[in-house]
Amino acid sequence: MKRIGILTGGGDAPGLNAVIRAAVKTAINEYKCEVIGIRDGYDGFLDPQSGIVPLGMEEVRGILPRGGTILGAANRGNPYARKVIRDGREVTIDVSDEIVKGIEEQRLDALLVLGGDGTLHIAHELAMKGVPIIGVPKTIDNDIGGTEITFGFDTALNIATEALDRLHTTAESHHRVMVIELMGRDAGFIALNAGVSGGADVILIPELPFKFENILKKIRSRSEQGRKFSLLAVSEGAKPVDGAQVYSRKGNEVYVPRLGGIGQIVAEYIEQQGFESRVTVLGHVQRGGTPTAFDRWLATRYGAAAVRLANRKGFDRMVALQCGEITDIPLEEAVAVPKRVNPLGDAVITARNIGISFGDE
Ligand code: F6P
Repeated sequence: MKRIGILTGGGDAPGLNAVIRAAVKTAINEYKCEVIGIRDGYDGFLDPQSGIVPLGMEEVRGILPRGGTILGAANRGNPYARKVIRDGREVTIDVSDEIVKGIEEQRLDALLVLGGDGTLHIAHELAMKGVPIIGVPKTIDNDIGGTEITFGFDTALNIATEALDRLHTTAESHHRVMVIELMGRDAGFIALNAGVSGGADVILIPELPFKFENILKKIRSRSEQGRKFSLLAVSEGAKPVDGAQVYSRKGNEVYVPRLGGIGQIVAEYIEQQGFESRVTVLGHVQRGGTPTAFDRWLATRYGAAAVRLANRKGFDRMVALQCGEITDIPLEEAVAVPKRVNPLGDAVITARNIGISFGDE
């Protein structure tokens, strides 16, 4: 193994820089290997002059606690559907062959792809075209199959929990219902785990469609017991039993649809029923800033393991955490079935045991 590349695709997540640092250090210390970084996801291969940068010890110095990614990210960087202007018109084209050519020109022995669902899907397709790819599971949503946890999730969870703690005191002072809308796409892990950790009274997640009247039942019963405030942790992908998810922007072949707005709808309903409510949309605060110690630790283990896997030529595979140990699984398996909250699992049962309502009963 002489030369490896690293790219970060999709949205950023806390811990990306920690993975990059660990991979670069392992590649240099253990294998005397040259490392390059690809800027802005797969896009960097299209313009190597500006898109390819050397990654040595100097470049990764001091980046362990830094949020974001030193390589830049692009979540419209799907090589199979790239929007370009042709003859003054916007058209969608497939640039995957150009990217494969770009990768070949870099003479890489391995390409580490740090990404979520979409980026890893593309990684698997490129691997089938012969690119020596190793995946590393990144996302605050924690929705990648085959791994217990993705890096970035723990940081988002801590930020969301702190936000709930802060809303708790102001909710109590003003006798209000506070609704917080949290990220997670179609997976309710952030809302569930932060909701439990932050003492929410109601948690709404995509995996358990809710009824508005059940939310009200919980708020009313608390009020009747003298608890004049309530805290609601609402996942952006939560939906009512007979309704659909709420989007702030539709998707197309380049952009995935943008979830957002369910928190406001829930808060308005509660207010109409006579309970003063406010809504907070935590948004990208969950993705920014320094990673937690757990995420730095996990990201470092993933980064080093990815390089070891590359040296064993374990291509078209992804590093994963199973039973607390780092292992690796086929990329195809990782992206086949996205991970979701198990509605019958112990986490949901525990929440119910301590009186949290999911609005489903
Ligand atoms: O997948 C990570 C995530 O933060 C989701 O939780 C959220 O729905 C989405 O990305 C937001 O994407 P963008 O950064 O494009 O607004």
